Amino acid sequence: MQQQLRKVFVTRRIPQEGLRVLSQAAICDIKQWNSDEPIPRAELLKGAAGAHGLLCLLSDKVDKEVLDAAGPDLKVISTLSVGFDHLALEDIKRRGIRVGYTPDVLTDATAELSVALLLATSRRLPEAVQEVKNGGWRSWAPEWMCGHGLSESTIGIIGLGRIGQAIGRRLKPFGVRRFLYSGRQPRPECAAELQAEHVPLDKLAEESDFVIVSCSLNPETEGICNKHFFSKMKTTAVFVNTSRGAVVNQEDLYQALASSQIAAAGLDVTVPEPLPMDHALLTLKNCVILPHIGSATYATRNTMSVLAANNLLAGLRGEPMPSELQL
Ligand code: NDP
Ligand code: DGY
Repeated sequence: MQQQLRKVFVTRRIPQEGLRVLSQAAICDIKQWNSDEPIPRAELLKGAAGAHGLLCLLSDKVDKEVLDAAGPDLKVISTLSVGFDHLALEDIKRRGIRVGYTPDVLTDATAELSVALLLATSRRLPEAVQEVKNGGWRSWAPEWMCGHGLSESTIGIIGLGRIGQAIGRRLKPFGVRRFLYSGRQPRPECAAELQAEHVPLDKLAEESDFVIVSCSLNPETEGICNKHFFSKMKTTAVFVNTSRGAVVNQEDLYQALASSQIAAAGLDVTVPEPLPMDHALLTLKNCVILPHIGSATYATRNTMSVLAANNLLAGLRGEPMPSELQL
């Protein structure tokens, strides 16, 4: 019956599979911002009003204002992401709202993209492609377009979680000699496969040939890759970030790259997103920037949308979610 339908607001066009799961459950009255463009703030506030469930994206800041706009009926927030730094978790918890997210299903795709970005950056692929197109390729030359290889290297992973481990697993066969990692505490069970050594951040910076950032963004990790950190890195080292842009102080990264304090950086995430076309980082040849495409395979995004839909439905039914964030 109509009055039993739960009001659901979906903040973006999402893969059809997820929407189909929501529709077929026949317990939702679905409203959607049916566009590939981010929802304007005013529309988000309007759409959330009176909703029982919100299916949102990492680009939607769900803060006190949105929660107030939604009102007391809001029982579940399901984000189409594993990252949850866009959600005001304390406020959400205080209001008794449950949160679903999408861990695991995007781990392989994100790890794969991280490896692709690392190789593109360390072997200077975008620069080389550009040289072919602009006539810079004159002949084979012994010292032209050289980069840094993985063989016998030391890899430092900041945040040896699901994605960090999956990246390490993929890099090991390239002949990596040693893995280091940093995090709040040693995680022997995560480190065993790579025989990775838990080290303080400074030591990771000093000894790594490749630094990969795959931690979550939280108050402790915000800005940890800063001037001090880059000053400890080797001048031949390559820095890769596929976690969140705010883990990095971008001014400091720019200086480190421009002054050749470090060799190169590959970023899938920035602040802000999208990065303005006139941003200083875009002027650097030794900086490869991607538009936050870590999980962007068709299959992964479909699976994420189905998981986000099932999380939402379970929350609305008061059942255990397939992937619930423990608040
Ligand atoms: P996990 O929760 O499995 O891993 C997060 C890691 O962050 C843990 O290893 C944790 O280590 C570490 N961490 C937390 N706090 C700190 C700290 N203070 N210092 C160092 N490490 C810390 O999450 P996932 O691996 O599934 O995802 C990681 C992140 O990747 C997401 O939060 C998201 O932001 C990002 N992501 C980006 C994508 C993209 O498209 N580029 C796609 C998917 C995810 P410990 O607990 O030991 O401190
Ligand atoms: C996430 O899930 O947190 C990514 O940033 C996008 O998939």
